[in-house]
Amino acid sequence: MVPITAGLPRIILGHWPTPLHELPRLSAALGGPRLFIKRDDLTGLALGGNKCRKLEYVLADAQHKGIDTLITSGSSQSNHALQTAAAARRLGMEAYLVLVKGVHVETQGNLLLQNILSSTVSIVEVADPGEVFSAVPEKMTELADQLRSKGRNPLVIPAGAEMPLGTVGWVNAAEEIARQLQEQKIDAQYVVLAHSGGGTQAGLVLGFKQVNLPLAVIGISVTHRKDQAVNEVITLVNDTAKLLALEAGVTQDEVVVFDDYIGPGYGIPTRECVDAIRLVAQTEGIFLDPVYSGKGMAGLIDLIGKGRFTSQDSILFIHTGGVPALFAYHQELAGQLRGDAGPADTAL
Ligand SMILES: Cc1ncc(COP(=O)(O)O)c(C=O)c1O
Repeated sequence: MVPITAGLPRIILGHWPTPLHELPRLSAALGGPRLFIKRDDLTGLALGGNKCRKLEYVLADAQHKGIDTLITSGSSQSNHALQTAAAARRLGMEAYLVLVKGVHVETQGNLLLQNILSSTVSIVEVADPGEVFSAVPEKMTELADQLRSKGRNPLVIPAGAEMPLGTVGWVNAAEEIARQLQEQKIDAQYVVLAHSGGGTQAGLVLGFKQVNLPLAVIGISVTHRKDQAVNEVITLVNDTAKLLALEAGVTQDEVVVFDDYIGPGYGIPTRECVDAIRLVAQTEGIFLDPVYSGKGMAGLIDLIGKGRFTSQDSILFIHTGGVPALFAYHQELAGQLRGDAGPADTAL
Protein backbone atom coordinates (compact mmCIF):
# COMPACT_ATOMS: atom_id res chain seq x y z
CA MET A 1 0.00 0.00 0.00
CA VAL A 2 1.29 3.48 -0.83
CA PRO A 3 1.88 5.48 2.38
CA ILE A 4 -0.54 8.39 2.94
CA THR A 5 2.43 10.74 3.21
CA ALA A 6 4.21 9.43 0.08
CA GLY A 7 4.10 12.66 -1.94
CA LEU A 8 6.02 14.75 0.59
CA PRO A 9 9.81 15.03 0.79
CA ARG A 10 11.32 13.49 3.93
CA ILE A 11 14.83 13.35 5.37
CA ILE A 12 15.49 10.28 7.45
CA LEU A 13 16.83 11.44 10.83
CA GLY A 14 15.71 8.50 13.03
CA HIS A 15 15.78 4.72 13.11
CA TRP A 16 12.50 3.19 11.96
CA PRO A 17 10.31 1.52 12.96
CA THR A 18 10.74 2.22 16.66
CA PRO A 19 10.04 -0.86 18.81
CA LEU A 20 6.52 -1.67 20.02
CA HIS A 21 6.34 -4.23 22.81
CA GLU A 22 4.31 -5.45 25.75
CA LEU A 23 4.72 -4.29 29.37
CA PRO A 24 3.65 -7.46 31.22
CA ARG A 25 5.13 -6.59 34.60
CA LEU A 26 3.59 -3.11 34.61
CA SER A 27 0.18 -4.60 33.65
CA ALA A 28 0.48 -7.12 36.47
CA ALA A 29 1.44 -4.41 38.97
CA LEU A 30 -1.67 -2.42 37.96
CA GLY A 31 -3.99 -5.46 37.87
CA GLY A 32 -4.56 -5.31 34.08
CA PRO A 33 -5.48 -4.31 31.31
CA ARG A 34 -2.80 -5.48 28.84
CA LEU A 35 -0.34 -2.66 28.28
CA PHE A 36 1.99 -2.07 25.34
CA ILE A 37 4.49 0.69 24.64
CA LYS A 38 5.69 2.41 21.46
CA ARG A 39 9.31 3.38 22.05
CA ASP A 40 9.69 6.79 20.44
CA ASP A 41 12.24 7.48 23.16
CA LEU A 42 14.42 5.33 20.90
CA THR A 43 14.15 7.32 17.66
CA GLY A 44 17.91 7.83 17.81
CA LEU A 45 18.26 11.57 17.13
CA ALA A 46 19.69 13.41 20.18
CA LEU A 47 18.70 10.68 22.65
CA GLY A 48 15.26 10.20 21.10
CA GLY A 49 11.79 11.69 21.26
CA ASN A 50 8.64 12.52 19.33
CA LYS A 51 9.98 15.58 17.50
CA CYS A 52 12.23 13.52 15.24
CA ARG A 53 9.25 12.38 13.15
CA LYS A 54 8.02 15.96 12.79
CA LEU A 55 11.46 17.31 11.85
CA GLU A 56 11.94 14.75 9.08
CA TYR A 57 9.26 16.56 7.04
CA VAL A 58 9.85 20.13 8.25
CA LEU A 59 13.58 19.95 7.50
CA ALA A 60 13.23 18.21 4.15
CA ASP A 61 11.15 21.20 3.09
CA ALA A 62 13.70 23.58 4.65
CA GLN A 63 16.57 21.96 2.78
CA HIS A 64 14.63 22.20 -0.46
CA LYS A 65 14.24 25.96 0.17
CA GLY A 66 17.97 26.47 0.81
CA ILE A 67 17.52 27.22 4.52
CA ASP A 68 20.85 27.45 6.39
CA THR A 69 19.66 28.47 9.87
CA LEU A 70 16.89 27.13 12.11
CA ILE A 71 15.20 29.25 14.75
CA THR A 72 12.84 27.67 17.21
CA SER A 73 11.60 27.92 20.77
CA GLY A 74 10.33 25.96 23.73
CA SER A 75 10.91 25.97 27.45
CA SER A 76 14.43 25.92 28.85
CA GLN A 77 14.45 22.10 29.04
CA SER A 78 12.80 21.78 25.62
CA ASN A 79 13.19 18.40 23.95
CA HIS A 80 11.99 19.88 20.68
CA ALA A 81 14.69 22.55 20.75
CA LEU A 82 17.34 19.92 21.45
CA GLN A 83 16.24 17.68 18.61
CA THR A 84 16.05 20.65 16.24
CA ALA A 85 19.56 21.76 17.19
CA ALA A 86 20.97 18.25 16.74
CA ALA A 87 19.22 17.86 13.38
CA ALA A 88 20.64 21.25 12.34
CA ARG A 89 24.17 19.99 13.08
CA ARG A 90 23.51 16.84 11.12
CA LEU A 91 22.35 18.85 8.09
CA GLY A 92 25.11 21.47 8.32
CA MET A 93 22.77 24.24 9.50
CA GLU A 94 23.01 26.64 12.45
CA ALA A 95 20.43 26.58 15.29
CA TYR A 96 19.22 29.61 17.26
CA LEU A 97 16.96 28.82 20.21
CA VAL A 98 14.76 31.32 22.00
CA LEU A 99 13.84 29.48 25.18
CA VAL A 100 11.37 30.51 27.82
CA LYS A 101 12.80 30.36 31.32
CA GLY A 102 11.22 27.31 32.91
CA VAL A 103 11.79 25.42 36.10
CA HIS A 104 15.40 24.46 35.26
CA VAL A 105 17.86 26.77 33.53
CA GLU A 106 21.08 25.28 34.83
CA THR A 107 23.45 23.59 32.39
CA GLN A 108 21.96 20.18 32.96
CA GLY A 109 19.70 17.80 31.03
CA ASN A 110 18.73 19.22 27.64
CA LEU A 111 20.62 22.48 28.27
CA LEU A 112 23.82 20.55 28.88
CA LEU A 113 23.31 18.81 25.54
CA GLN A 114 22.65 22.20 23.87
CA ASN A 115 25.91 23.40 25.36
CA ILE A 116 27.76 20.41 23.89
CA LEU A 117 26.14 21.09 20.49
CA SER A 118 27.24 24.73 20.85
CA SER A 119 23.77 25.97 19.94
CA THR A 120 23.04 29.69 20.24
CA VAL A 121 20.58 29.85 23.15
CA SER A 122 18.81 32.90 24.56
CA ILE A 123 16.58 32.55 27.59
CA VAL A 124 13.60 34.89 27.97
CA GLU A 125 11.36 35.27 31.00
CA VAL A 126 7.55 35.20 30.76
CA ALA A 127 4.97 35.27 33.52
CA ASP A 128 3.67 31.76 32.79
CA PRO A 129 6.23 29.21 31.50
CA GLY A 130 3.30 27.21 30.08
CA GLU A 131 2.78 29.98 27.53
CA VAL A 132 5.75 29.00 25.40
CA PHE A 133 3.57 28.86 22.33
CA SER A 134 2.41 32.47 22.48
CA ALA A 135 5.29 34.30 24.15
CA VAL A 136 8.10 34.11 21.67
CA PRO A 137 6.99 34.15 18.01
CA GLU A 138 7.70 37.89 17.80
CA LYS A 139 11.20 37.46 19.18
CA MET A 140 11.88 34.72 16.67
CA THR A 141 10.67 36.90 13.78
CA GLU A 142 12.97 39.74 14.91
CA LEU A 143 15.89 37.35 15.10
CA ALA A 144 15.10 36.00 11.63
CA ASP A 145 15.12 39.58 10.25
CA GLN A 146 18.49 40.27 11.87
CA LEU A 147 19.96 37.07 10.46
CA ARG A 148 18.57 37.84 6.99
CA SER A 149 20.25 41.25 7.08
CA LYS A 150 23.53 39.38 7.66
CA GLY A 151 22.99 37.27 4.56
CA ARG A 152 21.60 34.13 6.16
CA ASN A 153 18.48 32.24 5.09
CA PRO A 154 16.65 31.32 8.32
CA LEU A 155 13.50 29.32 8.98
CA VAL A 156 11.34 29.95 12.05
CA ILE A 157 9.88 26.67 13.32
CA PRO A 158 7.06 27.12 15.85
CA ALA A 159 7.56 25.63 19.33
CA GLY A 160 7.07 21.88 19.23
CA ALA A 161 7.00 21.99 15.39
CA GLU A 162 3.23 22.37 15.83
CA MET A 163 2.46 22.80 12.13
CA PRO A 164 0.86 20.61 9.48
CA LEU A 165 4.20 19.48 8.00
CA GLY A 166 5.34 18.38 11.46
CA THR A 167 2.06 16.59 12.11
CA VAL A 168 2.61 14.59 8.92
CA GLY A 169 5.39 12.73 10.75
CA TRP A 170 2.82 11.37 13.17
CA VAL A 171 0.36 10.45 10.42
CA ASN A 172 3.20 8.31 9.20
CA ALA A 173 3.67 6.92 12.73
CA ALA A 174 0.00 5.84 12.78
CA GLU A 175 0.65 3.70 9.70
CA GLU A 176 3.78 2.27 11.32
CA ILE A 177 1.81 1.41 14.48
CA ALA A 178 -1.02 -0.15 12.45
CA ARG A 179 1.52 -2.42 10.71
CA GLN A 180 3.16 -3.42 14.00
CA LEU A 181 -0.17 -4.18 15.70
CA GLN A 182 -1.15 -6.35 12.75
CA GLU A 183 2.22 -8.18 12.60
CA GLN A 184 2.20 -8.81 16.35
CA LYS A 185 -1.52 -9.73 16.35
CA ILE A 186 -2.35 -7.14 19.00
CA ASP A 187 -5.98 -6.10 19.16
CA ALA A 188 -5.61 -2.71 20.87
CA GLN A 189 -8.55 -0.41 21.62
CA TYR A 190 -6.76 2.65 23.04
CA VAL A 191 -3.65 4.74 22.54
CA VAL A 192 -2.56 6.98 25.43
CA LEU A 193 0.06 9.73 25.22
CA ALA A 194 1.21 13.01 26.74
CA HIS A 195 -0.22 16.06 25.00
CA SER A 196 1.30 19.54 24.84
CA GLY A 197 0.92 21.36 21.52
CA GLY A 198 -1.18 18.51 20.15
CA GLY A 199 0.65 17.62 16.92
CA THR A 200 1.47 14.09 17.99
CA GLN A 201 -2.13 13.34 18.93
CA ALA A 202 -3.44 15.07 15.78
CA GLY A 203 -1.19 13.02 13.50
CA LEU A 204 -2.25 9.77 15.16
CA VAL A 205 -5.97 10.63 15.02
CA LEU A 206 -5.73 11.51 11.32
CA GLY A 207 -3.51 8.55 10.48
CA PHE A 208 -5.64 5.93 12.26
CA LYS A 209 -8.70 7.32 10.52
CA GLN A 210 -7.03 6.95 7.15
CA VAL A 211 -6.06 3.32 7.75
CA ASN A 212 -9.49 2.55 9.24
CA LEU A 213 -8.12 1.48 12.60
CA PRO A 214 -10.75 2.19 15.28
CA LEU A 215 -8.29 3.16 18.01
CA ALA A 216 -9.37 5.79 20.54
CA VAL A 217 -6.49 8.21 21.10
CA ILE A 218 -6.42 9.67 24.62
CA GLY A 219 -4.24 12.73 25.24
CA ILE A 220 -3.07 13.53 28.75
CA SER A 221 -2.44 17.27 28.72
CA VAL A 222 0.67 18.57 30.47
CA THR A 223 0.07 22.18 29.49
CA HIS A 224 -3.32 23.35 28.28
CA ARG A 225 -6.84 23.07 29.61
CA LYS A 226 -9.11 20.65 27.80
CA ASP A 227 -10.98 23.05 25.48
CA GLN A 228 -7.82 24.65 24.16
CA ALA A 229 -6.08 21.29 23.80
CA VAL A 230 -9.01 19.76 21.88
CA ASN A 231 -9.28 22.76 19.56
CA GLU A 232 -5.57 22.62 18.79
CA VAL A 233 -5.84 18.97 17.80
CA ILE A 234 -8.88 19.67 15.59
CA THR A 235 -7.12 22.56 13.82
CA LEU A 236 -3.99 20.51 13.24
CA VAL A 237 -5.96 17.50 11.98
CA ASN A 238 -7.93 19.63 9.53
CA ASP A 239 -4.91 21.63 8.29
CA THR A 240 -2.82 18.48 7.89
CA ALA A 241 -5.64 16.70 6.06
CA LYS A 242 -5.73 19.63 3.65
CA LEU A 243 -1.96 19.48 3.13
CA LEU A 244 -2.20 15.76 2.35
CA ALA A 245 -5.32 16.25 0.21
CA LEU A 246 -7.36 13.91 2.43
CA GLU A 247 -11.08 14.13 2.97
CA ALA A 248 -10.94 13.40 6.71
CA GLY A 249 -11.77 15.94 9.35
CA VAL A 250 -12.63 15.48 13.03
CA THR A 251 -15.30 16.67 15.39
CA GLN A 252 -15.01 17.65 19.07
CA ASP A 253 -16.26 14.22 20.24
CA GLU A 254 -13.51 12.38 18.37
CA VAL A 255 -10.74 14.14 20.29
CA VAL A 256 -10.27 12.97 23.86
CA VAL A 257 -8.03 15.00 26.18
CA PHE A 258 -7.80 14.86 29.97
CA ASP A 259 -6.48 17.96 31.75
CA ASP A 260 -6.59 16.52 35.26
CA TYR A 261 -2.93 15.59 35.49
CA ILE A 262 -1.14 18.92 34.88
CA GLY A 263 -0.72 19.52 38.61
CA PRO A 264 0.65 22.91 39.72
CA GLY A 265 1.85 23.72 36.20
CA TYR A 266 3.81 22.87 33.10
CA GLY A 267 7.23 21.48 33.93
CA ILE A 268 6.45 20.86 37.59
CA PRO A 269 6.37 17.12 38.28
CA THR A 270 3.46 15.93 40.40
CA ARG A 271 3.84 13.30 43.08
CA GLU A 272 1.90 10.88 40.81
CA CYS A 273 4.27 11.66 37.92
CA VAL A 274 7.32 10.78 40.02
CA ASP A 275 5.58 7.62 41.26
CA ALA A 276 4.76 6.64 37.66
CA ILE A 277 8.38 7.18 36.57
CA ARG A 278 9.56 4.96 39.40
CA LEU A 279 6.94 2.26 38.83
CA VAL A 280 7.73 1.92 35.11
CA ALA A 281 11.47 1.88 35.83
CA GLN A 282 11.09 -0.70 38.59
CA THR A 283 8.74 -3.02 36.68
CA GLU A 284 10.06 -2.68 33.12
CA GLY A 285 13.49 -1.01 33.27
CA ILE A 286 12.22 1.89 31.12
CA PHE A 287 12.76 5.55 31.99
CA LEU A 288 9.98 8.07 31.41
CA ASP A 289 10.55 11.84 31.64
CA PRO A 290 9.41 14.27 34.35
CA VAL A 291 7.56 16.78 32.12
CA TYR A 292 5.63 14.74 29.53
CA SER A 293 5.66 10.94 29.53
CA GLY A 294 5.75 10.72 33.35
CA LYS A 295 2.54 12.76 33.56
CA GLY A 296 1.08 10.84 30.62
CA MET A 297 1.69 7.57 32.43
CA ALA A 298 0.35 9.02 35.71
CA GLY A 299 -2.87 9.80 33.81
CA LEU A 300 -3.05 6.30 32.36
CA ILE A 301 -2.49 4.71 35.79
CA ASP A 302 -5.21 6.89 37.32
CA LEU A 303 -7.69 6.07 34.54
CA ILE A 304 -6.98 2.35 35.01
CA GLY A 305 -7.59 2.77 38.76
CA LYS A 306 -10.89 4.53 38.06
CA GLY A 307 -12.09 1.61 35.92
CA ARG A 308 -12.07 3.46 32.60
CA PHE A 309 -10.78 0.28 30.87
CA THR A 310 -11.73 -3.38 31.25
CA SER A 311 -9.19 -6.09 31.98
CA GLN A 312 -9.86 -7.41 28.44
CA ASP A 313 -8.69 -4.14 26.87
CA SER A 314 -5.27 -3.62 25.33
CA ILE A 315 -3.75 -0.15 25.58
CA LEU A 316 -0.76 1.24 23.72
CA PHE A 317 1.19 3.94 25.57
CA ILE A 318 3.36 6.18 23.39
CA HIS A 319 6.72 6.95 24.99
CA THR A 320 7.36 10.35 23.45
CA GLY A 321 10.88 10.73 24.89
CA GLY A 322 12.24 13.61 26.95
CA VAL A 323 14.48 11.42 29.08
CA PRO A 324 17.50 13.83 29.21
CA ALA A 325 15.35 16.16 31.37
CA LEU A 326 15.48 13.57 34.17
CA PHE A 327 18.98 14.81 34.98
CA ALA A 328 17.86 18.44 35.29
CA TYR A 329 15.12 17.30 37.68
CA HIS A 330 17.42 15.18 39.84
CA GLN A 331 16.49 17.06 43.00
CA GLU A 332 12.74 16.56 42.59
CA LEU A 333 13.26 12.89 41.77
CA ALA A 334 15.93 12.16 44.37
CA GLY A 335 13.98 14.21 46.94
CA GLN A 336 11.06 11.86 46.49
CA LEU A 337 13.41 8.93 46.95
CA ARG A 338 14.68 10.29 50.25
CA GLY A 339 11.25 11.27 51.51
CA ASP A 340 9.55 7.96 50.76
CA ALA A 341 11.72 5.10 51.94
CA GLY A 342 10.32 1.92 50.43
CA PRO A 343 11.98 -1.36 49.53
CA ALA A 344 13.67 0.16 46.48
CA ASP A 345 14.89 3.18 48.47
CA THR A 346 16.55 1.17 51.18
CA ALA A 347 18.62 -0.55 48.50
CA LEU A 348 20.27 2.78 47.62
C1 LIG B 1 8.84 14.25 25.46
C2 LIG B 1 7.65 14.92 24.87
N1 LIG B 1 6.48 14.28 24.94
C3 LIG B 1 5.35 14.84 24.44
C4 LIG B 1 5.37 16.09 23.87
C5 LIG B 1 4.08 16.66 23.37
O1 LIG B 1 3.98 16.54 21.98
P1 LIG B 1 2.96 17.47 21.20
O2 LIG B 1 3.50 18.85 21.32
O3 LIG B 1 3.00 16.97 19.81
O4 LIG B 1 1.64 17.34 21.87
C6 LIG B 1 6.59 16.79 23.77
C7 LIG B 1 6.69 18.13 23.16
O5 LIG B 1 6.17 19.10 23.54
C8 LIG B 1 7.76 16.19 24.29
O6 LIG B 1 8.94 16.82 24.25
